Amino acid sequence: MRERHQEAIDYVQNLVAHNKLDHQLPILGEGLSGKVYGLEDYAIKVYKDDYSEKDDSYMLHHLQDHSAFPTLHHHEDKFMIVDRVQGNTLADSIKAGEKLSDQQFVQIEDIVTDLYDHGIIAQDLHLNNMMIDKDGKIKMIDVGRFFHTDYPELYQDILEDHLNLTQYHMGFFSSIKDKLKKKKYYGSSSHRRYRKHSSSDYRHHRHHSSSSSRRKRHYYGSSSSHHRRHHKRKSFFSS
Ligand SMILES: Nc1ncnc2c1ncn2[C@@H]1O[C@H](COP(=O)(O)OP(=O)(O)O)[C@@H](O)[C@H]1O
Ligand SMILES: [Mg+2]
Repeated sequence: MRERHQEAIDYVQNLVAHNKLDHQLPILGEGLSGKVYGLEDYAIKVYKDDYSEKDDSYMLHHLQDHSAFPTLHHHEDKFMIVDRVQGNTLADSIKAGEKLSDQQFVQIEDIVTDLYDHGIIAQDLHLNNMMIDKDGKIKMIDVGRFFHTDYPELYQDILEDHLNLTQYHMGFFSSIKDKLKKKKYYGSSSHRRYRKHSSSDYRHHRHHSSSSSRRKRHYYGSSSSHHRRHHKRKSFFSS
């Protein structure tokens, strides 16, 4: 297995060095930070030259024990190699006219909750950053804007907004309407709080995050969202 990974690494290094990726490998997708190519059952994410944040491989490394994230095989300055998810992004599924299930949204909610419980804020949750694999499981493929904080409570409102929006984009219109109504009634200050904490505070926590996330690397070993799921869903975001 190791040999096979090494073969893939050598092959990709050579293509990157000679600027031949586009000729040799199929493109699986593209985002702001890079292009993703397919090589058998690997996905190769090659960063754009002007893209300065390459934290995603670090964060992905940190999340390796969690089954919702693809296995990371290799990372270096210009690219990383992860497991290719066999399936579609949520965005592509919707474009193809597929109806997403409530159960898929619940999976997303559980993953985000689980991360939150470990001080990781799942920012940039959008439909191009999540895939449904061949077993119907949600995989989070882009963690480039996730961050660790010792103060997750500060980000509850942002996460709630992200989840509401995700639910809305997944086609579950009624529940967001209800939630928004409820928000209005209680006079949520989410936007104000977002501004208040988003820029310098965000960077502070992010910076702060490196040492504490190293300390907590083994988070996921025993973590199971399963047995905590029921009371957790009730209490999450409501404190
Ligand atoms: N592990 C993967 N398996 C299959 N396709 C992937 C994988 N990772 C990314 N992709 C495809 O590439 C696209 C861009 O990847 P992403 O990591 O979101 O890049 P960016 O950070 O530039 O937004 C995704 O929307 C998806 O279509
Ligand atoms: Mg992306």
